[in-house]
Amino acid sequence: MNGLEKELNRGLEEALKVIFESIGKLLKGIFLGIKQLKNLKYLIAFGCMVGIAVSAYFLRGFIFKIEAPIYIQRLIYLTFLCVPIIYLVCIGNVKDKIQEKYRQMFKEIEFKGKDNKYPYFLGVREADKKLIYTFKSNISIDEWKGNKGRLETAMNCNILQYEQENNKKVIQLTTVPADFKIPTMLKWDDQYIEQKDGVIKLGESALQQISFDLNRVPHVLAAGETGSGKSVILRVCLWQMIKKGCKVFMIDFKGGVEFGLRYEDFGEVITERKRALEVLTLLVEENEKRLALFRQMQVKNLAEFNSRTGKNLCRIGVFCDEIAEMLDKTGISKEDKPLFEQIEGKLATLARLSRATGINLFLGVQRPDAKILPGQIKNNIPVRISGHFADKAASEIVLGTTDAGNLPDIKGRFLFKVGNEIIQFQSYYFDDDTMLHDVDVTVGGTLTEMKEVKKQVKGLDDIKIFEETPKVKVKKLEDAEGFDLNFDYNSMWDDALKKGGDE
Ligand SMILES: Nc1ncnc2c1ncn2[C@@H]1O[C@H](COP(=O)(O)OP(=O)(O)OP(=O)(O)O)[C@@H](O)[C@H]1O
Ligand SMILES: [Mg+2]
Repeated sequence: MNGLEKELNRGLEEALKVIFESIGKLLKGIFLGIKQLKNLKYLIAFGCMVGIAVSAYFLRGFIFKIEAPIYIQRLIYLTFLCVPIIYLVCIGNVKDKIQEKYRQMFKEIEFKGKDNKYPYFLGVREADKKLIYTFKSNISIDEWKGNKGRLETAMNCNILQYEQENNKKVIQLTTVPADFKIPTMLKWDDQYIEQKDGVIKLGESALQQISFDLNRVPHVLAAGETGSGKSVILRVCLWQMIKKGCKVFMIDFKGGVEFGLRYEDFGEVITERKRALEVLTLLVEENEKRLALFRQMQVKNLAEFNSRTGKNLCRIGVFCDEIAEMLDKTGISKEDKPLFEQIEGKLATLARLSRATGINLFLGVQRPDAKILPGQIKNNIPVRISGHFADKAASEIVLGTTDAGNLPDIKGRFLFKVGNEIIQFQSYYFDDDTMLHDVDVTVGGTLTEMKEVKKQVKGLDDIKIFEETPKVKVKKLEDAEGFDLNFDYNSMWDDALKKGGDE
């Protein structure tokens, strides 16, 4: 074979290679394009393209009447007929390019599965101001969560939520652009109050309103440096409890500075340690009675008890704005120590045992170290709210992670944690001056207060507890109902069962 032939063969080979590659690309484009048709938007557009091709077929007479050489006429006709295929190739190629972009991105941050494969981009859609990405990979959801920071930097967004579809290989990331800002001021509005018993709203994240249900997670700890907004967020909770007709106790050893006179209209503001112990003792007792009654009646929680019996056993909220004031034993005298210890003991008992009984603790703390907040209390508080902490150890204590160290130092900006998920949100701003007003609610009763007015508390003088119902500014109280300790609960249970059966 001479040089010229060799050259020709090489040229032919290359031409064939280009032709096959082009055909391959075309087929791949068509294939990827067809896959895109799962998306309604593309499907409708494709339908239009088919419509154009079909119209061209039926109206070909017009095309061939165009004043142009026949090959031009044919070219125009053929182009019209091929419009659906051209469209498929276009959308297929765009998808291919995007997939390649994400593959490169994951490659750069070395985020890949054990099978050495990078996540495969399946799609992205817009919802509200969010972008929801879908990827397929062999990477567990925990690994995705663990690489949040790197992924956010690479994708230039904030990841708000991770969701795994039934098929564990497919993950959805809900994101907002990196420059998206949660508002820094969200005023409280009574319209936010949820009718459902136990649901408390806190504020808003980029994604949703933040709320929790006291029937599932009974106690709350709000921690943060001074000025972070703990008192405000606790008031948001307190106000909702008041508006829902709960009995509230506000423990404030700063002499009523935190919960001023105005709050005395809605519940008892406790400013003395001795009184705090009395009330906590009473609540422990109330809790025991409720537990026994619920067990006997086989109800899961307060909401179920009330709906079964048609009674109005009240939810009780204990608010303590700064638990260091109540529990920190540093520097106290020997005589005072037993009182501090007893208070701590009662609080720990409530935290541990009042999960279902509707006695809820709302505690605020500035410096959450173990000396101030013993593990036996902290570990029984499922709802954690943390403001910015310059000290990462404090963040660890509250959230179990250092995340509060990276939280912007904005008033009312908190991290919310129930279970493993941590969500950044802006708490509602509650202003006593403009937002406190008379309420029109029916406050339920307690098991303890009705008959047993006089009580003996160990180590204390004979005291009178609940001689009168805590004052609540209400317009109507006539439906309020308490419980008689001598009441025949068995017959009540029978009644409740009968009532349930009749419905
Ligand atoms: N959700 C919010 N939105 C906007 N501003 C807020 C919010 N919460 C608090 N602030 C502002 O921050 C100030 C301090 O809030 P707050 O008194 O609740 O802080 P704190 O954490 O209780 O501080 P301390 O530990 O000193 O008691 C408020 O007076 C208010 O101006
Ligand atoms: Mg405060």
